[in-house]
Amino acid sequence: MTDKANESHTAAAATGLRGVVVGASTVSDVVGDKGELIYQGYNIHELAKSSNFEEVAFLLWNKRLPRRAELDELKRAIGEAYTVPKPIIDLLRQIPQARDISREVSLKTSIKLTAQFPTLVAAADRIRRGLDPVEPLPDENIATNFLYMLKGEKPSEHDAHVFDVCLVLHADHELNASTFTARVVAGTLANIYASVTAAIGALSGPLHGGANTNVMKTLLEIGDIENLESFIKQALAEKRKIMGFGHAVYRTEDPRATHLRKFSKEMGERVGNTKWYEMSRKLEEVMMREKGLYPNVDFFSASTYYVMGIPLDLYTPIFAISRITGWTAHILEQYADNKLIRPRAEYVGPRNLQYIAIDKR
Ligand code: COA
Repeated sequence: MTDKANESHTAAAATGLRGVVVGASTVSDVVGDKGELIYQGYNIHELAKSSNFEEVAFLLWNKRLPRRAELDELKRAIGEAYTVPKPIIDLLRQIPQARDISREVSLKTSIKLTAQFPTLVAAADRIRRGLDPVEPLPDENIATNFLYMLKGEKPSEHDAHVFDVCLVLHADHELNASTFTARVVAGTLANIYASVTAAIGALSGPLHGGANTNVMKTLLEIGDIENLESFIKQALAEKRKIMGFGHAVYRTEDPRATHLRKFSKEMGERVGNTKWYEMSRKLEEVMMREKGLYPNVDFFSASTYYVMGIPLDLYTPIFAISRITGWTAHILEQYADNKLIRPRAEYVGPRNLQYIAIDKR
């Protein structure tokens, strides 16, 4: 049996991560055998008897009970924030409730989301540039249609092809953070919209889908190949992470980077600007020498998109335009054989803390 087969075997026996400890925490502890629940060291019975919700919120956030002035300040801040802006309340009136999570309906929703993500990303970008959104072209594929809606003119066959392959390369990646998030949410039998929304949140972080934008920001900040080595060495000396390098799973080159490196070069040559490709190659060489780290999917996608004329902050939404297919595939799989995903945390906080009345703290 291969390692991966072994892993699958173990995973199959532990569906829903039941009993699997995935991290340490002091926030709370559930002692199933004793029927005990502890928040930051305080037994829930003590808190139910003597505390109140705002005070418990403070305790959870700060690992200790508040003094009177701190609790008053928290209550004031919460009260001040109660009001939700009217446009948001109006939006609530228009949101439909999606309750059907059958495969048939979920697959239709997956198709709709995959079709509409590009339309939304392109429209959002044009609106902020003071332009009108461009109507989609139903006869074109997703790559061509997206680039057309973004720029208002049809892309070259080459650009459309490169973009199409970028979508292929980003479509799925097993249980990465956003996909795992989608599966956790789907595992509660929440609908597909809720699951995808949660996944988008996870993707947006700089350690995940947000890395590609930051790769380009780093290249722009370095500015010139001459500055690259000293910039990177200093960043590494300051223990800063260089975006686009390293991976939680791959210990080799990310297979997607192999294609994207080629595209970065090709795109650069086509537009007569290979500067960013050359800087990327140099950065790759320095990172291998200094840290033994390979580039990941986000590294060369950055310079590829940049040379294609795509705004920096669209790189992560573009990731979502592709990954929506993987997310929804995982959501469908989760619904088909669902078990609530509920791992355990190892409680490392205090126990048996005595509740002290607020004015005696
Ligand atoms: N730049 C500099 N050092 C890095 C690094 C990076 N991009 N990625 C990892 N390292 C270093 C870590 O600091 C750590 O060094 P240490 O042992 O001296 O502390 C070592 O390599 C192991 O890294 P670790 O963070 O444990 O790896 P991980 O498997 O948990 O993390 C990532 C994987 C992807 C989160 C991490 O590589 C990273 O933050 N990369 C940059 C963000 C990125 O490109 N994300 C997109 C992923 S597709």
